[in-house]
Order: sequence, then structure tokens, then C-alpha cells
Amino acid sequence: MTKKIAVLPGDGIGPEVVAEAVKVLERLRRGFGLKIEMETAPVGGTAYDMHKHPLPDATLKLAKQADAVLLGAVGGTQWDTLPRELRPEKALLGLRAELKLFANLRPAILYPQLASASTLKPEVVAGLDLLIVRELTGDIYFGEPRGVRTLANGERQGFNTMVYSEHEVERVARVAFEAARKRHKKLCSVEKANVLETSGLWREVVLRVAKDYPDIELSHMYVDNAAMQLVRAPKQFDVIVTGNIFGDILSDEAAMLTGSIGMLPSASLDSANKGMYEPIHGSAPDIAGKGVANPLATILSAAMMLRYTLNEPRLADKIEQAVSKVLDQGLRTGDIHTVGTQKAGTKEMGDAVAAAL
Ligand code: NAD
Ligand code: IPM
Ligand code: MN
Repeated sequence: MTKKIAVLPGDGIGPEVVAEAVKVLERLRRGFGLKIEMETAPVGGTAYDMHKHPLPDATLKLAKQADAVLLGAVGGTQWDTLPRELRPEKALLGLRAELKLFANLRPAILYPQLASASTLKPEVVAGLDLLIVRELTGDIYFGEPRGVRTLANGERQGFNTMVYSEHEVERVARVAFEAARKRHKKLCSVEKANVLETSGLWREVVLRVAKDYPDIELSHMYVDNAAMQLVRAPKQFDVIVTGNIFGDILSDEAAMLTGSIGMLPSASLDSANKGMYEPIHGSAPDIAGKGVANPLATILSAAMMLRYTLNEPRLADKIEQAVSKVLDQGLRTGDIHTVGTQKAGTKEMGDAVAAAL
């Protein structure tokens, strides 16, 4: 049966990197029997400019009807002064909430060819393969109450609420334990239980779920230590499970272990493995429109889509092997460029991956 993919390019470099992932998917459709149809819709600031809303009804409807969503990135300074409800970022949060995408998988894998592209010593990162499972529909991102209020003395005060219910922790913990089972059977739960009640409850629930996974070696780590350990000795980790805000921060940090934030894909899944796939990076306004963005994170997100939602693991492998082949050939976008390699633009990189399939 033909699967439907909603393509939401978004803002900044979003359309540039999504075009390359679409190119790769098109090649698989024409040459390798992948049965998909793709439909594009506006999201983020681009959608606001067209329809006065960052997540128009038609876009949300398309995303809901589709089997999977491929998203570029949203955001840009020109929309930063809009009311919060109308900002591009709100579209992304809206999609995650509306599609109930509570489990965000962010693998950080170092391609051996990029060992010297990382700002860390090659021996620290060589062979790195870790998976961050980030909770995506709860925490301080969605907690109520939130806002800015004026105190009796006239001073304004901003406030947000960090909140997790047991069932929210339990379901993401299960995703993480299951993932660990398919990998090296080690799970590290990251929180701040020494200070925060939310984290104390998080740890309690994780310990309870662990009883169903006696084969998994579970550890707990405070987030400040985890941030340090990630750059000191990242290979100690197999799977990390953490909340929405800690996962956001730690995954950008983990990206640098792989050479560049332009390398990190992600899958955001619901309880039936329907999902949205996007690079973890943003719209990169500083390089947008220049044709220099690294499209590999988005291309690798398409591979995750084939693996997790479209049930095409063979084709997912094919994309990942093609990426590796292109890196072997020495092609590099500016963010991963090192002495002795050949500088390529966004399109060249996408063309090379499509050709290497
Ligand atoms: P960013 O990830 O957009 O950029 C951070 C830095 O990384 C920049 O120097 C950028 O040039 C570089 N970079 C990012 N992706 C790259 C790629 N593919 N190739 C080469 N270099 C790359 O983060 P930011 O600057 O903090 O945010 C910019 C905008 O993006 C903001 O509006 C923010 O809200 C939004 N944002 C959106 C998403 C998303 O849509 N998922 C994620 C993060 C940030
Ligand atoms: C990400 C982004 C988003 C987040 C923003 C743009 C809402 O940083 O996908 O990592 O914080 O989740
Ligand atoms: Mn982020």
C-alpha cells in the first residue's frame, strides 16, 4: 500500500535541507520500489506569512492524515516579536502535542570518517553510538500555569511549570528500556532528583518500570553531571532517557560529539510508531539561503522514517550506507569540513547521497 508523507519544509535552511531528503526519497521511489506519495504544506514563519498562522488547519490535517511527517525547521528573527501563540516554534510544539509524539529518539552516531571533525579528541569520540530518548509532550514546555504576571510592587515576573505525571514518565521509560534491549542493554536516566520534586517522581517511576526489564543495566545521573560526562567520556552511555528540556539541551551537546549539529536526525513517535522526522537543528538564519547547510541530518531523518514508521529497514540501511559512502569520497559541507576534504554545498551533498544509493 502506498504510504503518505507530509513534507513540511518550514523556514530558513528548512526548505534547503528538506529538498535533499526528498531527492533521496524520490530516488528510492523511482529506483527501489518504495511506495510513497509526498505532499508539501507550509509550517512555521513561512505559514504565518501566508495564512497568519504558523500551523494552518490544512497543514495540521495533512500531518494527521499522513503516515509520517518530514519536517525541516522553523523559526527566524523576523517572527520573534509576534505573540507567542503565533510564533513558528508554536507550530512545532502544536504538531508534537496534536500528534501525541511523546517519544523523541535522537541518536548520536559518529561516522568514523568524521572523527577529526569533532571538537573533541578523536580517541574520546571514536566509535560513539548513543541514543537519547527525550520525552517530548510534557515538562516545562507544556506545564501550566505559565506566563508573565505583575507583582504588587509593579515588578513583572515570568513563570513556567515543570510537571510530569506518572503515566508520561512510564510510557517514555518503556520506549527507552525497549530501545536499550535492542542495543547494549544499558540505560541511564537523567534528571535532577536532588533538587526537583518532578525529578524525584521521575526516578521513582523509572525504578518501577525497571522491574519489567531485569536484563537492562539501569543507572541514574543528575543532569549537570550528565552534561559534563557527555564531553568527558561519552562512550560510557548506551541509551539516555530524560525529560523534554534536559533532552533538548543534552542532544545539542551530543551533536557536537558527532562533528556537527548538521549530522543529528530525530524521530518523534506516538504509541503506534506513527511519527514526525526532523533534524535536531534549527532554521540556522546565519547560513539560510546560502546553499551551504548540511542536509545529512535531514536525509538521516528520512532513513529513520523508513525504519520506524514505513517498515522499510533495508532501504533505511541503504540511505545510511550511502551517507557513509559520500563521506568516504571526501565530500563535506562547511560545518564538517577539515583539511584534506572537499567542500560541498547542500545540493551537491544531496546529489551525491542520491547517486550513492
Ligand atoms: P540552529 O540549530 O538553527 O543553529 C545553531 C548553529 O548551528 C548556527 O550557527 C547554524 O548555522 C548551525 N547549524 C544548524 N544546522 C546546521 C546545518 N544543517 N548545517 C550547518 N550548520 C548548521 O539554532 P539557533 O540559532 O539557536 O536557532 C535558530 C532558529 O531556529 C530559532 O528561531 C529557533 O527557535 C529555531 N529552532 C528550530 C528548531 C526546529 O525547527 N526543530 C530547532 C532548534 C531551533
Ligand atoms: C528542537 C527545538 C525545539 C525544542 C524548539 C524550536 C521548540 O529546539 O526541536 O530541539 O525546544 O524542542
Ligand atoms: Mn533543540
